[in-house]
Amino acid sequence: MTTTSRDSFTGKFGVIAAAAGSAVGLGNIWRFPYVVGENGGGAFLLVYILFIFAIGIPVMVSELLIGRRSQKNVFGAFRTLAPDKPFFMIVGIMGVGAAFMILAFYSVVAGWTLEYTYMAIGDNLLDKSSAELSAFFESFSESTAGPIGWMVLFMTLTAGIVIGGVKKGIERYTKILMPILFVIIVVLCINSAMLPGAGEGFAFLFKPDFSKVTGSVILEALGQAFFSLSIGMGVIATYGSYIQKKENLLNTAISVSIADTLIAVLAGVAIFPAVFAFGINPSAGPGLVFETLPNVFNQMSGGYLFSVAFFLLLVIAALTSSVSLLEVVVAYFSEELKMNRKLATVIAASVITGLGVVCVIYDKVFTFFDKTSSNVLLPLGGIFIAIFVGWVLGKAKTKDELEAHGGKARLVGFLMIILKVIAPIAIGIVFLNGIGLL
Ligand code: TRP
Repeated sequence: MTTTSRDSFTGKFGVIAAAAGSAVGLGNIWRFPYVVGENGGGAFLLVYILFIFAIGIPVMVSELLIGRRSQKNVFGAFRTLAPDKPFFMIVGIMGVGAAFMILAFYSVVAGWTLEYTYMAIGDNLLDKSSAELSAFFESFSESTAGPIGWMVLFMTLTAGIVIGGVKKGIERYTKILMPILFVIIVVLCINSAMLPGAGEGFAFLFKPDFSKVTGSVILEALGQAFFSLSIGMGVIATYGSYIQKKENLLNTAISVSIADTLIAVLAGVAIFPAVFAFGINPSAGPGLVFETLPNVFNQMSGGYLFSVAFFLLLVIAALTSSVSLLEVVVAYFSEELKMNRKLATVIAASVITGLGVVCVIYDKVFTFFDKTSSNVLLPLGGIFIAIFVGWVLGKAKTKDELEAHGGKARLVGFLMIILKVIAPIAIGIVFLNGIGLL
């Protein structure tokens, strides 16, 4: 069987930009601050960063090499690499399940972002007081017609890009737009830092209070690390299958993880000083970003232009992430079930839109999808991925794939110890402890 006609990413920046495009999204700018706020701030941030480096990067490398070595979607990948171990197809099954769950609530939040873009363009955000902004978010997110309309629009855009294919669809947008988003966030950080009372926000974010660290806080940090890096369910493996042999996978994983973490921390720096300056509750939940940032735009010069650009780019960052999630499902439907790509996209997007409507109507379902995907499905997927590369694929093949670009792979022995022992045990303990079983 030949697989030579697979779509692939062009040069190095294309690969990093596409993987970073998947990683950087609402997870960094919407989810990270709200989860930090709910879990007490500084100590959570420390644990989070530790997980990114100790577990996140090794699992990301694993996914990349599973994808590139097999040249398949997640299901096919495990079957191709270990035909005698059908058990590992569970990762593919959980992955497709996770993609449905994540996209359902993700597209709802992306819909909120579209509403805020629309409000920003009409200059309807800047005239509101902090209390009015909070009230606006509440009444909007509790209504149904508006959020559903925007969510449907967002899923339609996502499906449109996925139908267009990987190279033309994904790569083109991310290369130029992500750097612009980065610059805007830095400007926001500066403006937020100058607000009166900003110091309290910095203390919240950077001064760890270890009395706040409980089992569930640690699990939330792990779940957020997986969610933000897009790992644990096959997105990065699917992208790995589009990466050319000449790319260095370890460097790709490190660059993407650092960029992703930097953007999340900067989003925190943009948001927490403002949270305290405007008297917003840091544990306000999923509305935190939407209630906080418009206050910062209000205070700064050029606030109108920045608010429009920010929300628009946030929509685009969300799109490059949602596209990667839908791509997992579509690659599975089209390559495993032999469905035509367009049909696969339409079916998957329709089912997800239906689930999204349920998320809009029932808060509880939204929260259930949000928490279950990050804190259960992704970490479990991470355990299986680490075990697969550590024990099944093994050191020789791992080294070979990491050296496929022609260079010498660094740290392979160290990586294998993490994958074989440290990551599975650490994730297992954090998971069992977090859900109260240990
Ligand atoms: N990481 C993305 C974000 O931060 C969301 C995302 C895209 C994702 N693909 C994923 C999360 C795969 C988990 C798994 O917004």
